[in-house]
Amino acid sequence: MKHAVRIAGIDRTFWCDENDSLLTGILKANSSGIPAGCRGGGCGVCKIQILSGEFSTGCMSGCHVSAEDKAAGKLLACRVYPRSDIELSVIGKMIRCFQKVA
Ligand code: FES
Repeated sequence: MKHAVRIAGIDRTFWCDENDSLLTGILKANSSGIPAGCRGGGCGVCKIQILSGEFSTGCMSGCHVSAEDKAAGKLLACRVYPRSDIELSVIGKMIRCFQKVA
């Protein structure tokens, strides 16, 4: 099942399968200019903030995501799986890439 994922600030929306991480969905929608991080929750390059929507998560590094971050929805896109339509903002190093294409 696919869900609509809207990136706030640059007003872009893509579809993401609920079996794919949000990062995989971003890469499938537009891989050009998106940095290839570890894709395993360890490097922190893909940090986002979930603004609305339901999701599940996999393991991610405590070095990049504190308990306060988790409570605020600040997570790593490579370890977040959509369970409904999602709105997010990009807050990690990927933000520069989105600013270039906006
Ligand atoms: S790509 Fe490394 S933490 Fe997501």
